[in-house]
Amino acid sequence: MKTRNTGSILLFQLVLLTLLLFQEGNPRKIINSVIGPYIAYGERFYMCEPNNRLLPCRWNIRASHFNPYKPKELQRLTGNVTSTVTVNDDCWAKVVVDVRSNNQWKENAFVFNFNDGACRVLKENIPAFYKQVLKGKDEGGCTIPPGVYEVNNTPVDWSFPKVPLLPYGSWRFRLTFGKAENLYACFVINAKNVPKTD
Ligand SMILES: *[C@@H]1O[C@H](CO)[C@@H](O)[C@H](O)[C@H]1NC(C)=O
Repeated sequence: MKTRNTGSILLFQLVLLTLLLFQEGNPRKIINSVIGPYIAYGERFYMCEPNNRLLPCRWNIRASHFNPYKPKELQRLTGNVTSTVTVNDDCWAKVVVDVRSNNQWKENAFVFNFNDGACRVLKENIPAFYKQVLKGKDEGGCTIPPGVYEVNNTPVDWSFPKVPLLPYGSWRFRLTFGKAENLYACFVINAKNVPKTD
């Protein structure tokens, strides 16, 4: 229970911290139009394996283009995620968030460390990826067994239940996870979010 709460609270801090960051600008504008409910989409999925070392978990994912005129149309993913190890809640995770601001990346804008519970962090924060790509189940313990997880033009609903509001813009997420001293993966996602319209 304790670690579960830590996960949600940490991710919710992302929103608060981002608010503070953006508040250097014009606070009134922020409230009215720069932050709110959003639709998110991925632009690029790639890896950050150190020195081109092949890590146990890899991905090769392409996303369909987001159509701003049809924002409700779900993005479709094609490719695979492969793992030679079991990823469960004994694993740690680290999420580094870079924010695009004034035409450059503000690196390490936020860093979230989870000493354990990597699987649950994924399941609770990006449920669509857990379910639709990794074929994870709602019930039971959180575990991703070794295997090849394929998607072929699969619609993915990018909703982030723990983070209902975000400033609109461009983001880069570097996700690493592993067990003890072993690094299992280094994944990067370049993403954007736009206001959610009815
Ligand atoms: C994963 O996808 C890549 C790119 O399409 C492909 O080259 C590779 O063979 C696939 N891996 C597996 C295990 O299917």
